[in-house]
Amino acid sequence: MSDVREVSPEQQTVEQTLVDTVVASFDACEDPRLKEVMGSLTRHLHAFIRDVRLTEDEWSAAIAFLTAAGHITDDVRQEFILLSDTLGASMQTININNQAYADATEATVFGPFFVEDSPAIEPGGDMAFGAPGEPCWVTGTVTSTDGEPLVGAKIEVWEADEDGLYDVQRDAGARAARAHLFTDAEGGYRFWGLTPTPYPIPDDGPVGKMLAAVGRSPLRASHLHFMVTHEGCRTLVTHIFPEGDPIGWKDTVFGVKESLIKKFERQAAGTPTPDGRVVDGTWSEVRFDIVLAPSGV
Ligand code: BEZ
Ligand code: FE
Repeated sequence: MSDVREVSPEQQTVEQTLVDTVVASFDACEDPRLKEVMGSLTRHLHAFIRDVRLTEDEWSAAIAFLTAAGHITDDVRQEFILLSDTLGASMQTININNQAYADATEATVFGPFFVEDSPAIEPGGDMAFGAPGEPCWVTGTVTSTDGEPLVGAKIEVWEADEDGLYDVQRDAGARAARAHLFTDAEGGYRFWGLTPTPYPIPDDGPVGKMLAAVGRSPLRASHLHFMVTHEGCRTLVTHIFPEGDPIGWKDTVFGVKESLIKKFERQAAGTPTPDGRVVDGTWSEVRFDIVLAPSGV
């Protein structure tokens, strides 16, 4: 990597003059936030180009990469989100917008596999809807940071099956291993899901090529997604991660946080289940108590 200080003073003036000219091109912008964002983007983009002394071939390769990302993107496949996720940009945006507040549960990446119209389940229902995997009994509470139970909080849950696939990757119209339910009069919830397993993010496009080129794995740490909403509270988008997961901190989208690692207790085949369900084989159990911050913090 070159250092801009090795560049002659005359050349530095040429380069800095261009930065200043581009920044000044936004002077007439009437939206102060847009003006701030475009000015900062320009300064940082030019600083990057100058820092690495970008060659014209590298610039062309970057344009070809972004073009390929555009070509593979459609309503279901979102390559630019994958790019943002694998560069940590999604996680950094989440960090900035979900700052620590009292004992509120931490947020993590949303990912591209949420769908709006998940099926409803009753307390204790099964969100797997036939998706393959080891059954997992998930329980917990939803409370405010004052410790008050939040009654009727909406909990949306979704996860990949044991083959590492979301329902929508098998068939856009399919709905399995996803559901929504509401907390009961004590703020409690319980449902059957699947014990999470690691899976690769879609890696047959330019982002997958980028990961391979830099020697990175496309695997995500095993996880179960949650989105929790309640009036007057900050919406929480998060996951829980099984303790001892083989991918764990090497998660390719940097989503793991210590507070979100939970013990999934594996139960031997034949162990009675909490609700009397007959399970053919092993099953697991996890508790996840959720604390929502007030909205606006
Ligand atoms: C997911 O967890 O579903 C996910 C997150 C980021 C990129 C790809 C998938
Ligand atoms: Fe996921």
